Amino acid sequence: MRVNVLFSPVIADELFFTRKTVIVIDVLRASTTIITALQNGAREIVPVATVEFGVKISGGMFGGQTLLGGERNTKKVEGFALGNSPLEYTPEIVSGKTIILYTTNGSKAIVKAKFSENLYVCSFLNLGAIAEQVIKTGKDFEILCAGKSNTFSLEDSVCAGRLIQEVINHKEGLEITDTSRVSVSLNNSFGENPFEMLKETEHGKLLLQNGFEDDLKYAAGVDTSNVIPYLATNVLKSLPGDNGAMNKN
Ligand code: MLT
Repeated sequence: MRVNVLFSPVIADELFFTRKTVIVIDVLRASTTIITALQNGAREIVPVATVEFGVKISGGMFGGQTLLGGERNTKKVEGFALGNSPLEYTPEIVSGKTIILYTTNGSKAIVKAKFSENLYVCSFLNLGAIAEQVIKTGKDFEILCAGKSNTFSLEDSVCAGRLIQEVINHKEGLEITDTSRVSVSLNNSFGENPFEMLKETEHGKLLLQNGFEDDLKYAAGVDTSNVIPYLATNVLKSLPGDNGAMNKN
């Protein structure tokens, strides 16, 4: 079993992901928001790569139980019901709903990897559950960091390293590529206190400036959720506990 890390979606094209097992990480904040929404009873999340497409499919397609969520430049998109703060996605608001989600980096990364055989969404919140799932799946896997504007982001890479370390702790003989090794090393250097690390990252600083400190605190919680979002026919749902890896074909 081999793991590789892509530090940005720009490194690969869509076909690269065909038939692969892929873990998408966008700690701040798309992954964290997706896990929270499903944890709080959202029926499904539809990640989209453009606002226009999100608006187009929101019209009646899901029987009036649809909410548009997401951000541009960290702020709620005009006309959307929800922004991209995980704390907005409460059970009262999202239970039973389909959420169409547009975010600057995270939703686009998921859409880019849509041809993968198994696609799971990870953040610090569900790290242990994802580690268990990839071990159960038993296949080579790629960790796709959503990054920031097609470049590197420290928080996603540290989370990738922590995930790899967790897998190594429970599975012998994991083959790790150079980017995987670097991610583990970044986690060793910066990962001890996730909240402190998040506060010092470029995107963390931007979120702090815009009043989202509580989101950083929340996103820094490790293993607070067992929810495993998986992509099936372009829609993210929570993987049923005892179902093993989903094959989407
Ligand atoms: C993204 O996808 O770029 C992020 O989730 C942005 C954000 O912090 O809302």
